[in-house]
Amino acid sequence: MCGIVGYIGYRKAVDILLEGLTSLEYRGYDSSGIAVNVDGKVQLYKAAGKLQNLKNIVEKNYADISKSTIGIGHIRWATHGAPTVENAHPHSCNCGKVAVVHNGIIENFKELKEKLEKNGCTFRSQTDTETIAHLIATKFGEVHDLTEAVRLATKEIEGAYAICVMHQDLKDTIVATRRNAPLVVGLGEGENYVASDVPALIQYTKKAIYLDENQIATLTPNSVDIIDIDKNPVEKKIETLPWEPVALSKMGYKHFMLKEIHEQPDVVRNVLSGKLRAIDENIILKEVTLDKETLKNLNRIQIVACGTSLHAAMVGKYIIEDFCGIAVDVEPSSEYIYRKTITDKNTLVIGVSQSGETADTITAVRQAKSKGSHILIVTNRPDSTMAREADSLIPVNAGIEVSVAATKSYMAQLISFYLLAIYMAEVKGINNLNELKHELIVLPQKIEKILAHKEDIQKCARKFANSKDFIFIARGINFPTALEGALKLKEISYINATGYTAGELKHGPIAMLDESMPVLSILMKGKVYDKILSNSEEAKARNARMIALTDSDDTKLNELFECIIRIPEICEILSPALAVVPLQLLAYYIAEFLGKDVDQPRNLAKSVTVE
Ligand code: G6P
Repeated sequence: MCGIVGYIGYRKAVDILLEGLTSLEYRGYDSSGIAVNVDGKVQLYKAAGKLQNLKNIVEKNYADISKSTIGIGHIRWATHGAPTVENAHPHSCNCGKVAVVHNGIIENFKELKEKLEKNGCTFRSQTDTETIAHLIATKFGEVHDLTEAVRLATKEIEGAYAICVMHQDLKDTIVATRRNAPLVVGLGEGENYVASDVPALIQYTKKAIYLDENQIATLTPNSVDIIDIDKNPVEKKIETLPWEPVALSKMGYKHFMLKEIHEQPDVVRNVLSGKLRAIDENIILKEVTLDKETLKNLNRIQIVACGTSLHAAMVGKYIIEDFCGIAVDVEPSSEYIYRKTITDKNTLVIGVSQSGETADTITAVRQAKSKGSHILIVTNRPDSTMAREADSLIPVNAGIEVSVAATKSYMAQLISFYLLAIYMAEVKGINNLNELKHELIVLPQKIEKILAHKEDIQKCARKFANSKDFIFIARGINFPTALEGALKLKEISYINATGYTAGELKHGPIAMLDESMPVLSILMKGKVYDKILSNSEEAKARNARMIALTDSDDTKLNELFECIIRIPEICEILSPALAVVPLQLLAYYIAEFLGKDVDQPRNLAKSVTVE
């Protein structure tokens, strides 16, 4: 979603702003802008569409713009008002002296706007953000202090925000604050940075301060001062940022998505490292702080998540119920938060999120926390808002994921669920999972085998790339794999793809089948193999074009399926972690063949920070 970058120091601010915004592009956006201070005047430059449009404008005025050593920048994902130049950030006040960039949503902006308009403020955009600019300018007129003006303004603002502000008369000050949206201050020598996410900073500094709720930071080239909303000074906690700049490079791959798919064998090894040490040793999961007695006696677990994380949660439900006999409910966070959920201190609530910033999931875990539930967070961002809500935190360690379509973070979530389920089973005294542990250890090699033969999947992708619709079928533990395969395809190729439990096909969806509708059957050897085979026959009998994804070498499949994607044999219970890889590749190659913007699909955002 939206992204913020701010810089103050001695270098050309515009270079740092544009580079920072480039490294946040992956989050998804539809317009962009910067504010700089040139010869004592705040100048705004904005563009609709891709960041390149802003870069083109900047290039024409570069000699002038590059004089500024202070600036703020923004990429916007439209919420209030269309993605136009007028609505792009930064926004300003009547006199043009204040410039503001903002992530989040101001819930009471209509009331504020009415009041401000009565006091003579003229609005130029449809955004909620513009109210902040006018409000801060009004307060500045009263107190002549930017930090104080921001503090007073935030007392009147309701909603979620990360804000960065500069004022024309203060060439050496940026003020930044946040509530329910992330913001991190990067520390340099004679220069300081602020950004809504780490990738914008890591090429410049590894030292940073994560701002807490309602804290206000005042940055100059040589200082960072932080106060809370009541003006009390806050002690700075300087942390070391977790990544190397190389994480933001494609390393020779055409797209980040392809690179991230290829990183999955190492992601599995990373997640297992130190936790699964030997087949005959118990899983070590120090991250789960719930005492073993409570864990043993849990009779209910709820898992909340969105999108791809929801599919990982569905696999989690299947294996926790199977191994531990504990009832698990999985629900999209956006549904969980608007009904009466039966949650109490005897319920373990697990929040799953790649970004740790998904607004619906944050709200869901906060609601459960207020009812006394133990909160376990499974996330790729241990520095995120959600992680800060956790009683137990499992960081999945997939490394930064740049492509909007989640791949390696899904893999890391899945493996974390396998470890958690085995750990819980072992706490309960169930010790029959050694074969699964062995399979987990050899999983990376099996994924590598699939990657080594990716051309076969590419060929299949070419054959089916022009289909308008797609159906994925599976049963049991691979139903979430069917949903995830369909979601990947939808997300990056915009083909209408749906996952169904194979048994449901004949209860409605079968009506859609004909020669224009490919059906991909996930046919992993095990309990439901024969059942899915029969369901595939039923689809074939309706002239559907059939694709199989299977670990079987049964030659009979050749008659039924036009295209067979064969993968190494694997035990059924772990098969979702292997079967998803060819589906990621299939979606990738179809989107690539169709010439889509694979890493930044239209309308999507990497972390959805609004409900
Ligand atoms: C967005 C992304 C999806 C992601 C979902 C949940 O919709 O486009 O790829 O799965 O959010 O995100 P989270 O960060 O909570 O896993």
